[in-house]
Amino acid sequence: MPNAYISGTGFFVPPRVVKNDDLRTLYGIDTSHEWIVQRTGIEERRFADEGVGSADLGAQAAEKALHNAGIQATDLDMIVFATLSPEHCFPGSGVYLQRKLGLCEGPNAKFVPALDVRNQCSGFLYALATAASMVQAGSAKHVLVVGAEVHSAALDLTTRGRNVASLFGDGAGAVVVSATDEDRGVRKWRLGADGRFADVLSQRVWDIRKRPFIPVGENGNGYLEPEMLWAHMDGKLVFKNAVERMMTVLMEACMANNITGQDIDLFCFHQANLRINQYIQNALGIPDNKVVHNIQRYGNTTAATIPILLAEAVESGTLKRGMKVACCAFGSGFTWGAAIIDW
Ligand code: ACO
Repeated sequence: MPNAYISGTGFFVPPRVVKNDDLRTLYGIDTSHEWIVQRTGIEERRFADEGVGSADLGAQAAEKALHNAGIQATDLDMIVFATLSPEHCFPGSGVYLQRKLGLCEGPNAKFVPALDVRNQCSGFLYALATAASMVQAGSAKHVLVVGAEVHSAALDLTTRGRNVASLFGDGAGAVVVSATDEDRGVRKWRLGADGRFADVLSQRVWDIRKRPFIPVGENGNGYLEPEMLWAHMDGKLVFKNAVERMMTVLMEACMANNITGQDIDLFCFHQANLRINQYIQNALGIPDNKVVHNIQRYGNTTAATIPILLAEAVESGTLKRGMKVACCAFGSGFTWGAAIIDW
């Protein structure tokens, strides 16, 4: 059975920087830089311009990951795209990315399968586990895993939505998962979900059980109630569960691999709130020099967060060959996961 290692990483964030104070001055939200920094650690985030979708950001990250892996898009056997902000209800973003990578054109067209993963902040780890399993099973040699989000279009950028709107930003990260005979790569991972909390952090733009499934107002314009259109979150409940689930799944992944936290060289936690990660770090006694963060600069980029962290750590030289990496995430669903990677 081959091992599945990460042969290339890449990331892309849109150039437009939105600082905490911009939420107040540009959008009129009753908030402050102090409130957001103290509660979340976020200082700024990136917003994509109109006309840019998750597959656009994902394509930029993917091109870099392919380049760093030293392969062409036509070498891929599969695409796995994790996002909660696809361009449309269907199809998913994976097929748009496939098209943007030029895989559908010319004599070298290669119609590789494109799978979309809808697991929010845990999406990248669900996608990574899927890709690694495909490679380890011998079904694929190179799988492109992308996490990309355009949150900014669907945030309630008013005071009513400030508890959610201040948290999220746009961006994309990508990795290539490749087969190798070397003793390295994605080791045993652990994933979980608890559907009892499915509505606690959700965006329910339609309800397919209803007729019409999107309520149509008197004038027939498809008027939506604000509570349907915007994301809903019970922040305190999410916070508490995030801490508990991330600590537990991280320890479960370590145990599955017969290691302890002390064996880990670098921790890449999902970036939902710096306070969540600091709490976990303190509880498990993890030193600062073993943790990378980017929430200060990007906010919560959901499925894009962990691949962006990995790509930045490689680019800065923080993450090097031979290191043992732990990735861990929690998000809407509730869903969670942890993976150990020998880099
Ligand atoms: N600026 C100013 N005031 C604000 C803001 C803001 N941006 N947001 C909320 N407030 C106000 C609230 O309206 C409330 O005011 P009130 O007391 O007058 O009603 C007050 O601040 C306290 O609000 P809480 O929601 O109780 O604040 P809390 O301390 O819980 O912090 C936060 C909120 C930062 C969202 C926190 O709960 C949190 O980070 N939770 C976890 C979020 C998370 O992890 N999400 C991850 C998953 S995302 C995914 O999977 C897609």
